[in-house]
Amino acid sequence: MSEAWWRGAAIYQVYLRSFADGNGDGIGDLAGLRTRLPYLAELGVDAIWLNPWYPSPMADGGYDVADYRAIDPAFGTLAEAEAYIAEAHALGIRTIIDIVPNHGSDQQDWFVEALAAGPGSAARGRFIFRPGRGPAGELPPNDWQSIFNGPAWTQVADGEWYLHLFAPEQPDFNWRNPEVVEEFHAILRFWLDRGVDGIRIDSAAVLFKDLDSVEESYTDHDEVHEVYRGWRRITDSYEGRFLVGEMWMPDQERFALYLRPDEMHTAFNFDFLSRPWNADELRASIDLTLATHVPIGAPPTWVLSNHDVTRPVTKYGRPDTSFSHQDRKHGMPTDLVLGERRARAAALLAMALPGGLYVYQGEELGLPEVEDLPDELLQDPIFTRSAGADRGRDGCRVPLPWSGQETPFGFGAGTPWLPQPTDWKNLTAESQQADQNSMLALYRNALKIRRTHLGDGSLTWLDSPPGILTFTRDSGLTSITNLTPNPIDLPPHIELLLTSAPLDNAQLPSDTTAWIR
Ligand code: GLC
Ligand code: CA
Repeated sequence: MSEAWWRGAAIYQVYLRSFADGNGDGIGDLAGLRTRLPYLAELGVDAIWLNPWYPSPMADGGYDVADYRAIDPAFGTLAEAEAYIAEAHALGIRTIIDIVPNHGSDQQDWFVEALAAGPGSAARGRFIFRPGRGPAGELPPNDWQSIFNGPAWTQVADGEWYLHLFAPEQPDFNWRNPEVVEEFHAILRFWLDRGVDGIRIDSAAVLFKDLDSVEESYTDHDEVHEVYRGWRRITDSYEGRFLVGEMWMPDQERFALYLRPDEMHTAFNFDFLSRPWNADELRASIDLTLATHVPIGAPPTWVLSNHDVTRPVTKYGRPDTSFSHQDRKHGMPTDLVLGERRARAAALLAMALPGGLYVYQGEELGLPEVEDLPDELLQDPIFTRSAGADRGRDGCRVPLPWSGQETPFGFGAGTPWLPQPTDWKNLTAESQQADQNSMLALYRNALKIRRTHLGDGSLTWLDSPPGILTFTRDSGLTSITNLTPNPIDLPPHIELLLTSAPLDNAQLPSDTTAWIR
């Protein structure tokens, strides 16, 4: 088996804007992150994945990149980024950055140039410009809708239209243009030369479009694989680096193609987080994931949350515990006590599974989704573009509570860019530090055990009654999750390593995971 570090790594996702604010302007930054590195070392993570940190007008939280080779001044400077990478390395923490290949920002030099250069120019050829339909070209080239709602085309002053699968501020690149291919190769080298250990590939499956198609036809065109073959060659020319792709694709056979030995090393597994809290569903997801990855030798990944999805404590406390982008279930009645209990059990389950693990900032504090943010403060383009029908993703992006009794809870000196709920005083890292039963203590203890007993490898299912998930790992650790309403007996064991909730007369209660040997 390969010993590449990333195969079983626990990777912590930092949404920089909301992690820690070093200069008091209410926006998280590199200075804040650097002061909190000891916290992440103590938590026991192997790497940090940072959402885009580049200069950006922030039309989509930085996923509208204006310059791929610099740092947004709100976050810091390139020199600070380099200092951060080195400091993290000194603590044994690697860095993964986010590269956004599908689209740039409408403020990027290339796009500004394209607008000035006019129809038919080489500068326009880097994007997807087309004349409109209708007698005066007043209709968009086709009827495609944007993923963020509304038309996927915007018209410019000279009458041409450009394609944007996301917001109008995010023009799509033309991946059939070799200049675009070359540019991203150079960008990858730029960051790999600066010591980043991994690349997260944003919206990885949607780079190629068939514009003649009536329906939106951009996901998973065969041509995309050649792009990642090129990226793999570059990444592998450096020591110990890897790619992780973001693909929301239901077809697992097609998904697996991206993980062939000459393409991406890994990809996010979103099937698991989309499933409801139900033993058969989770078992099916685990089996499907393993069946997809094992034959091609790629390690699976396990993700309970990220900056695009509902916080687990909230998701698992709802009557419908599944997740879907189509319906975020905002404002559904939620039992947060039950949700937290299940989120704890889910964390131990996910951490016990073979492969890599992603932890989104605040997950280790058990933060709930913030569902009562005032309309005028919402920043996610999904909110405005859906005319408020979808309140978007800001509720999982609220700045972290670090310490103290009052907002901003040690986040920084200024007013946080999104307001924190006042009752987060009970969820600060500081208050959880002192409490052995806290979510933070659970994550710390579990990640410590995971480091020696879990991660990369395989699992063996053990027979268990309906509603119970029991498997053993290569190390001999057995994980048992009880999704039935009643307490159950634990299998014979010599050691109880960890439980997500206290045992009840030596029995494993409902919605609880135990790790035994
Ligand atoms: C990815 C990101 C998401 C972003 C979108 C467009 O899905 O995770 O936050 O809005 O791509 O770049
Ligand atoms: Ca700041």
